[in-house]
Amino acid sequence: MAEVVIVDSPATGGALVARHIATQVRHSSDFTLGVATGSTPLPVYAALARERSDGLDLSGVSAFALDEYVGLPRDHPESYHSVIHREVTEPLGLDPSLVRVPDGDEATIATAGERYETELDAHGGVGLQLLGIGTDGHVGFNEPGSSLASLTRIKTLTARTRADNARFFDTPEQVPTHCITQGIGTILRAQHLVLLAFGAGKADVIARAVEGPVTATIPGSCIQLHPHATVVVDEAAATRFERADYYRWVYEHKPAWQGL
Ligand code: GLP
Repeated sequence: MAEVVIVDSPATGGALVARHIATQVRHSSDFTLGVATGSTPLPVYAALARERSDGLDLSGVSAFALDEYVGLPRDHPESYHSVIHREVTEPLGLDPSLVRVPDGDEATIATAGERYETELDAHGGVGLQLLGIGTDGHVGFNEPGSSLASLTRIKTLTARTRADNARFFDTPEQVPTHCITQGIGTILRAQHLVLLAFGAGKADVIARAVEGPVTATIPGSCIQLHPHATVVVDEAAATRFERADYYRWVYEHKPAWQGL
């Protein structure tokens, strides 16, 4: 079972996860972090930036992003290359040559998935993968119906995801129709998955991902297949869990040596 940690706010959740990542980095300075876009992981990045101001050196950390839009120029402000650079690489002081984002260039998209998989394998995989969850249950950009064994490949975005992401563009039509995303099989190879969900809008989907059946219909439910998965939610996102009391009890009685 994934460990579910219920916190009072996204800031508390971000600080908790950042503290754990900082411990991993102090232990092994060439740690590999799987990074996600969206608003959910921002409190983790903010707390990691504070760890950095307090002396944590992240310059040896490698990062692999989950996904990218197809057809947006890399220097478009909403390409995930730009977003990861702005929200992760710069504030955390990562070495840009150690940060990889899937290649969404239309001209070479046919081989981009395989190339990213090869790069990930050659690197030795991801230590800790941060994940958000879309309101339709997607992780990365693995939309409902994605194979639980899928690898990095091109996907077509659902109307719901395009509508959710329209806030980042001038008009809804500007949201790309296709993306390249690590597959669920790719994500499951990371050593530790940390799935974050904040706010009432995520309460239903996170309960289904954690307590419902493992199903391609809710790609986030793939975490149930992973031996080390941690789910961090705020109170607003925790309202639909059937076993919330048990999760609180487990966390309160967790041996300190276990970490996250
Ligand atoms: C985007 C990203 C996902 C992210 C999700 C949720 O489409 N590709 O990686 O988890 O949407 O976004 P948010 O965290 O803003 O709710």
